Amino acid sequence: MSLETLEQETLAQVAAAADEAALEAVRVAALGKKGTISEQMKQLGALAPEERKSFGAALNLLKDKVADALAARKGELADRALNERLVRERVDVTLPVRHELRGTIHPVNQVWEEIVQIFGDLGFSVAEGPHIEDDFHNFDALNMPPEHPARQEHDTFYFNEKPDGSRLVLRTHTSPVQIRTMKTQQPPIRIIAPGRTFRSDSDMTHTPMFNQVEALVIDETTHLGNLKWLLHEFCKAFFEVDDVKMRFRASHFPFTEPSMEVDINCSWKDGQVKIGEGDSWLEILGSGMVHPNVIRAGGLDPDKYQGFAFGMGIDRIAMLKYGIPDLRAFFESDLRWLRHYGFKSLQVPTLAGGLS
Ligand code: DAH
Repeated sequence: MSLETLEQETLAQVAAAADEAALEAVRVAALGKKGTISEQMKQLGALAPEERKSFGAALNLLKDKVADALAARKGELADRALNERLVRERVDVTLPVRHELRGTIHPVNQVWEEIVQIFGDLGFSVAEGPHIEDDFHNFDALNMPPEHPARQEHDTFYFNEKPDGSRLVLRTHTSPVQIRTMKTQQPPIRIIAPGRTFRSDSDMTHTPMFNQVEALVIDETTHLGNLKWLLHEFCKAFFEVDDVKMRFRASHFPFTEPSMEVDINCSWKDGQVKIGEGDSWLEILGSGMVHPNVIRAGGLDPDKYQGFAFGMGIDRIAMLKYGIPDLRAFFESDLRWLRHYGFKSLQVPTLAGGLS
């Protein structure tokens, strides 16, 4: 068979292939180990040098043409398959909800929305930052220079080193959003930043991905008393109790001075935890007055501006509020668990209508 005939026939087969499987069969029949074009290649060795050169060049040309045609046809078929699927799987969003199939809101999303509601009502807005952070925002700017021991406690997920020696990280806390906010907003600042955080840690109470909410207030007068009041208001609203006792324990975080860990009172009856009664204590967050170095790293003058910050585990307070025992189950996507602990999807938490 002449190369021209082979070309015409092969290209005709490519054009006629009706789906990706048929196209693949054409490819194998032409370019596969025993394919028509490959067989021609094998005969090159038997030719005289001059003939081999011209025939070889023509064969390579043919090979490229067929490969291009295959690729183009593959693209066409893929587009067509996608378009057909888009038509076939069209969703009518105006159809009524089928109750028996309705999904539920995950407790983390529920609690996230509750937190946004409460702080929104108190005049806070929601800020965000990237999950992939640089060393500066995750550590340095938060008063944790490279040799700082607190870095070791974070079980950080590092990316591969870049040529300049720097490494990106999966953010280990939501605190870097403090820096990003100060750099882009002028005081007075009142933000919360709920979001995902990552540490290489896994047991009953730790998962490699978890959720935190950060809060930052910066202006010229805000003091520790404001922080205590705010946290008290938040805890009452969030746990939906008339009162809750709070214990502020002196602590240490590199990014706050002074620093406090905050406990709330609770009782344990039959393995069930009740917030706001009893005389056991549960730690719920870390907080403090923002360190001058952090304010400076955020581009603000610490002699003029001051304020507080806190960071709280969203998953943890979700467990406490809704009596969920094992953190790992949060992220296993077990439908039975979601049906049991999930929330009605059309009931949005509001302070007036009830949070949970
Ligand atoms: N970033 C801390 C952590 O992940 C939590 C924290 C503590 C945040 C104190 C704060 C703070 O803003 O003031 O462990």
